[in-house]
Amino acid sequence: MVCLGNICRSPLADGLLRQKVKSLGLDVFVDSCGTSSYHIGEPPDERMINTAFKYDYDISNLRARQFTKRDFKEFDVIYVMDASNYNNVIALAETKEDREKVKLFLNELHPQSNMPVPDPYFGGEQGFEKVFNLVDETTDKIIEKLKK
Ligand code: 4NP
Repeated sequence: MVCLGNICRSPLADGLLRQKVKSLGLDVFVDSCGTSSYHIGEPPDERMINTAFKYDYDISNLRARQFTKRDFKEFDVIYVMDASNYNNVIALAETKEDREKVKLFLNELHPQSNMPVPDPYFGGEQGFEKVFNLVDETTDKIIEKLKK
């Protein structure tokens, strides 16, 4: 799961998918990172932690890291939250295989819509609720795929 800062959208997607994978006993490794170096080593944004906690998900232990080329080798699928993240990740791809791993996260919920998960960082509380709902629904869709 990849966003810009790795403190709002991608740690939420990571935390929810990890928890869902674990509760179903699926053997899937989930992680997240940001395309920027802005928040390396930091926990998720307090507002994102609190929103997740309201729905019984604890993402407070996650720490931000930056996307690297090595992630293309470590992961089978790389979900990005918006077009800017997509371009930043694709810019580091070296092969067709790398590029094919990169997918817009919300396309799992709304196929081929190319919609972004809106960045809640500079907005109010309701942005975080909206992100939670989108990420919750989309990680359910991803789980359905992983179960097959
Ligand atoms: P995220 O949100 O990409 O969902 O983690 C942001 C976090 C920090 C910044 C921008 C977006 N920032 O500019 O510091």
